[in-house]
Amino acid sequence: MVFPKKILMSSPEHFDVVYKINPHMSLENKVNKTLANAQWYNLRSIYENIGFDVEVIPGRSDLPDLVFMANQLISTRDGVILSRMNNIEREPEVDHIKKHLNIKNYFRPKNTFESMGDCLEDYQGKRFFCGYGFRTKKEVYEEINNYLPGEKVLIKLNSEKFYHLDTCLCIVDNETAFYVKSAFDDNGIDTLKKSFQKLIKVDEMEAETFLACNAHCPDGVNIIVEENAKKFQKSARDLGLKVHSVDTSEFLKSGGSIFCLKNQFWDY
Ligand code: ARG
Repeated sequence: MVFPKKILMSSPEHFDVVYKINPHMSLENKVNKTLANAQWYNLRSIYENIGFDVEVIPGRSDLPDLVFMANQLISTRDGVILSRMNNIEREPEVDHIKKHLNIKNYFRPKNTFESMGDCLEDYQGKRFFCGYGFRTKKEVYEEINNYLPGEKVLIKLNSEKFYHLDTCLCIVDNETAFYVKSAFDDNGIDTLKKSFQKLIKVDEMEAETFLACNAHCPDGVNIIVEENAKKFQKSARDLGLKVHSVDTSEFLKSGGSIFCLKNQFWDY
């Protein structure tokens, strides 16, 4: 299986919850900064230990969500698409990342699009699962169609708690994926069933409380899973995957976990 070997992360020193743009966020639920730092470094070392090259982009004091690097851009085998953030608070992140990485060739759509948060690549099947409904507009997929090489599978999101596709769909390979049933309507579930031979239902409590489905399987062999998502970990082990677990309690306060905290990048 051919997959991108580079992981982009943004350092956590300025991560915080200072506004509320998804149902998981609450200004009362304070972030423990020391713990957040430790959890982020833990995740980073897991990627390094399983053979990924991690590039770190410095955080910025006015961008508390910058650390969620799934959202500012997506790279494909063909090039880079930059996001158009749904929330004004996060919009400056895109330019910050673009400048830092010195990205010269890119496409930037007019409709809102939150990149790897909603648009998930099945590296083996060369397919893109294209989520829409909360952060990303359905119409954007017409705009970026030529920049996403391969088959496109459109999926509507149906529950605000699972506002990004990466909170409710975790792709292992072209045959296998985990999903959260309550996040989709009947059509969505039907589409997923047709797309994966082995479609595994995630425990709803684990999905909601620990964003279990925000696990990341970067290579079809290893999977990084939230520490508290024990049922998810067991299903992953039963599939023969190598499970690595990490506590992301502080990032969950912002509605994000493992998959959100990185960008798996095709290096050109
Ligand atoms: N607080 C961030 C937001 O609401 C969390 C982003 C999580 N990212 C993700 N890919 N699900 O935008």
